[in-house]
Amino acid sequence: MSQTPQTAGDGTADTVTLIDNRNGKQVTLPILHGATGPDVIDIRKLYAATGCFTYDPGFTSTGSCESAITYIDGDEGVLLHRGYPIEQLAEKSDFLEVCYLLLNGELPNPEQKAKFEQTITRHTMVHEQLANFFRGFRRDAHPMAIMCGVVGALSAFYHDSTDINDPTQRIIASHRLIAKVPTIAAMAYKYSVGQPFVYPRNDLGFAENFLHMTFAVPCEQYKVNPVIAKAMDKIFILHADHEQNASTSTVRLAGSSGANPFACIAAGIASLWGPAHGGANEAVLKMLEEIKSVDRIPEFIKRAKDKNDNFRLMGFGHRVYKNYDPRAKVMQQTCKEVLAELGIKDDPLLDIAVELERIALSDEYFIEKKLYPNVDFYSGIILKAIGFPTSMFTVLFALARTVGWISQWKEMIEDPTQKIGRPRQLYTGHVTRDFVPLNERG
Ligand code: SDX
Repeated sequence: MSQTPQTAGDGTADTVTLIDNRNGKQVTLPILHGATGPDVIDIRKLYAATGCFTYDPGFTSTGSCESAITYIDGDEGVLLHRGYPIEQLAEKSDFLEVCYLLLNGELPNPEQKAKFEQTITRHTMVHEQLANFFRGFRRDAHPMAIMCGVVGALSAFYHDSTDINDPTQRIIASHRLIAKVPTIAAMAYKYSVGQPFVYPRNDLGFAENFLHMTFAVPCEQYKVNPVIAKAMDKIFILHADHEQNASTSTVRLAGSSGANPFACIAAGIASLWGPAHGGANEAVLKMLEEIKSVDRIPEFIKRAKDKNDNFRLMGFGHRVYKNYDPRAKVMQQTCKEVLAELGIKDDPLLDIAVELERIALSDEYFIEKKLYPNVDFYSGIILKAIGFPTSMFTVLFALARTVGWISQWKEMIEDPTQKIGRPRQLYTGHVTRDFVPLNERG
């Protein structure tokens, strides 16, 4: 995996030279090229050579690692998983096949696919003791709070798959997480509505099984709607991985210390929960419900542009995409298919969303700042129509993203250049000063 400096046409290595104009000191740093996308300046020797750190709050210009899993071209609105465009995967693949692709690097052949599906299916049950953790939560606890707690609790159960230096244990932990997080997610929903937990069924596919565990009740037969199951599967594909976003970076940083993989995923869930990240899908629904009608849209567009108002158009904007998020396009189409399947002729929330998008995309402020709908803008409308409460939306995002987190975690552990992540800082606090005894303080 380790990159070596590339050479220009004349054989000289591509480099960049920095000159410190305080003392004329120079440092020449190699430029590394990936398969595509921006080159990187390798600054690993910078501090030793100059005594300076780089400074990049929010990592707007920083590559934290080398990865071969997901590539995003923000300007073109391109998203590739192991080279395959997200549009093609959403249209032609299924979520478990995408899980195999993210984890292993290639699409499975029929035998590999069947074996992987069987492996995941047989890991969907959770230890019976795990159900006890739910009892400690209030029934109105946010399901993401439950996910943080119960997924973290997996680290207390599966000690036969936590030796991160053993490749077999790494892949078993990966399979367990992909398989068990949906079961825990469904349990979190059941707990919140006071219904009994429903066990997974090995005769159902991934999305069908999740819908069954979530919406079936012991009193009657639950029939999964195949159109809804296909839509859920597609939504999971759209959320599977997304390069080095906040929650994935959290999982990588937690994992870089050698921490328990189950605990690292719980850390990712915590980071995803924020409204600036995966929590945006829940925030979009709340925003659309607050807007209430199409004629109030201008009032909210005005607020979104007002620097003195911390209101933001949730589901809009992205650190990387300065074009339409390709996932949002697929999501909008899926939204129309699901509403049609459910016989929902005119969903007022969809009407507001479509009109909000139309107005925003023609507004100078959004055009100049390149703010487009992102993956979270339409997902909530679909999930609400299927029957999920808004509090479950980010749980579904975490369910799907678990494969991305664990694939990135596995790639990091297997990277020979990997070290514990330990950023530095620009210190602006007090310099050394002597302690003041209590009786001498003002
Ligand atoms: C996800 O990183 C990933 O890949 C994440 C994700 C994934 O799959 O993992 O794609 C999932 O998290 C999608 C994003 C979901 N979040 C939202 O929809 C929340 C609303 N959007 C934002 O708050 C914002 O756009 C971010 C957080 C997504 C991106 O923020 P940045 O890159 O730090 O950009 P910024 O906050 O510096 O904004 C740049 C400018 C600012 O104006 P100025 O200070 O330059 O004048 O654009 C403005 C912002 O005020 N702006 C918005 C806006 N988003 C940015 N103004 C109004 N509404 C918005 N939504």
